[in-house]
Amino acid sequence: MYMTDTPKDQVDALTARGVRKTYEAENAPVRALRGVDLVVPHGEFIALMGPSGCGKSTLLNLVAGLDTPDEGSIFVSGEEVTGRSEDDLARLRRRHIGIVFQFFNLLDGMTVLENVALPAVIAGRSRRAAESRARDLLDLLGIAEKAGAVPGVLSGGQRQRLAIARALANEPTLLLADEPTGALDSEGGLEIAELLGRLHEGGQTILLVTHDAGVAASAQRIVQMQDGRILGAAATDSPLATAAGSSGGPSGA
Ligand SMILES: Nc1ncnc2c1ncn2[C@@H]1O[C@H](COP(=O)(O)OP(=O)(O)OP(=O)(O)O)[C@@H](O)[C@H]1O
Ligand SMILES: [Mg+2]
Repeated sequence: MYMTDTPKDQVDALTARGVRKTYEAENAPVRALRGVDLVVPHGEFIALMGPSGCGKSTLLNLVAGLDTPDEGSIFVSGEEVTGRSEDDLARLRRRHIGIVFQFFNLLDGMTVLENVALPAVIAGRSRRAAESRARDLLDLLGIAEKAGAVPGVLSGGQRQRLAIARALANEPTLLLADEPTGALDSEGGLEIAELLGRLHEGGQTILLVTHDAGVAASAQRIVQMQDGRILGAAATDSPLATAAGSSGGPSGA
């Protein structure tokens, strides 16, 4: 088959190489990231786990371009995140990144539908197109009947669904979720995990940070972090495990 001459860093949804970040704190500097390499291929769903303070949120923030690394490079869908102007970065973020946080950051003066439509309107789509896409997303996430409500009347799980719908408004290359189930009870958390699993089945690339092993189990691969470094990866389902284990491991089931 014909192969295009694509540079390596353009192949994957996310490529982070040698990423270091130190925060200047009052007493001693905090070395939050000490050389992180991470590749997330398109369509993969990775759960990032590790002790509090190991650098998970720092890494997500750098990937989202909300902060800049001291060293190393980050490419999202082949576009370098570092070293851009604010405007350029905002454009890249709108195109490629959807973010969901533990606390939902919703706009309470707007309806559910308007919350989801807003990012697409900001990105330049017509209100009609944006709202049509927003309705599809609310439908997909099972909260279509709340379209006209304000976020304040939703349950925690519904709010997180809304936050996810909003993050997907511009069909991002990469959905980043930093403890999206952290403010939910375990049942609500597992519902969100299941939902992320379904989005992944639909082709969405996801990088999820979670402390909850039950939530992480919905991912395809679990990556452990400790002390600002990535420890190693364990696959939770077959394709990568098979590839990794093909040299000498037991084959078949
Ligand atoms: N803006 C900041 N200024 C100073 N230190 C910071 C800043 N942000 C994070 N840190 C420090 O960097 C380290 C990594 O923090 P980070 O938030 O990435 O951890 P985390 O793995 O997300 O933890 P948690 O699981 O508790 O959310 C911590 O020691 C934290 O105190
Ligand atoms: Mg964190």
